[in-house]
Amino acid sequence: MPKPVLLLTRRLPEAIEARCARDYDARLNSADTPWYRDGAEIARRATETGAAGVFCAAGDPMGAATITALPDSVKVIATFSVGTDHIDIAAARARGITVTNTPEVLSFATAECAFTLMLMAARRAGEGERMVRAGAWEGWAPTQLMGVTLEGKRLGIAGFGRIGRELAAMARGFRMEIHYRDLRRAPPELEQGATFHGDDREFLSAIDILSMHMPGGEATRRWLNAERLGWMKPGAIVINTGRGGSVDDAALVAALTAGHIRAAGLDVYDGEPKVFPGYLGLESVALLPHLGSATLETRDAMGRRALDNLDAVLLRGEAAPDAVG
Ligand code: DGY
Repeated sequence: MPKPVLLLTRRLPEAIEARCARDYDARLNSADTPWYRDGAEIARRATETGAAGVFCAAGDPMGAATITALPDSVKVIATFSVGTDHIDIAAARARGITVTNTPEVLSFATAECAFTLMLMAARRAGEGERMVRAGAWEGWAPTQLMGVTLEGKRLGIAGFGRIGRELAAMARGFRMEIHYRDLRRAPPELEQGATFHGDDREFLSAIDILSMHMPGGEATRRWLNAERLGWMKPGAIVINTGRGGSVDDAALVAALTAGHIRAAGLDVYDGEPKVFPGYLGLESVALLPHLGSATLETRDAMGRRALDNLDAVLLRGEAAPDAVG
């Protein structure tokens, strides 16, 4: 039996590419051609190769137009991400294509990234680092770059899924008070004493630091807009490691410029890799290049999880453990 053809839209960690090559007729993307940004090109390559599976990643253009143009040979799209907002799940379902993601394995790393941003924003770490690199530091001074402590602050987690709950566990170690907003209240064993809010205004006006962990898509688009920012306490901090589209960038820049929001830490952006220009000149914003899950351990685990799903469908003819939708 020939091995099923697997089209990889991106270069992946070495061990994952090796497993792809061992078990599939793997067609690897070459490192220097960003063809994966073009949905028509993905569909063309899938057609040329007779791909049975497409191994894609966060941000790839897997919308309805791409999915409609895929050949009938494609049975499964496995994304190297927990987020699936780049994939039109309904279009895939209509074509009988299974879509899978990589839940759980990146929760800790992404929460770690949110915590990193929270510390950077609260303690002005990016600003300090830039000062040292620029040779502008003139020595220790009693009032230099004073930030705020996390201890005793109210952390508001918007989206209390696995990542949000990992962040809550870390924040308890910093003696923070945990509040969360979600569509429904979590059971006590997951809540672990965190305070649930069923209303945005009540939630946002109660907290000192907001950390956003909501899925992308229309339901959360521009959720953090001027009105909601206005409900937050003066001097509050905003962190986003979920999806960039959940923030109204112009409104956040205005709130930062006015000093209503003290600082922000962002790992995700609307229309990545573009970054809203208003952030770039603001010292009070820490900016990371979407590296929430970027640890050696996590990226390997994500690759293994994606391949476990591909193997189930393409090698064993079974249901995918992480089928979405
Ligand atoms: C995801 O998994 O959705 C992240 O955004 C990329 O790791």
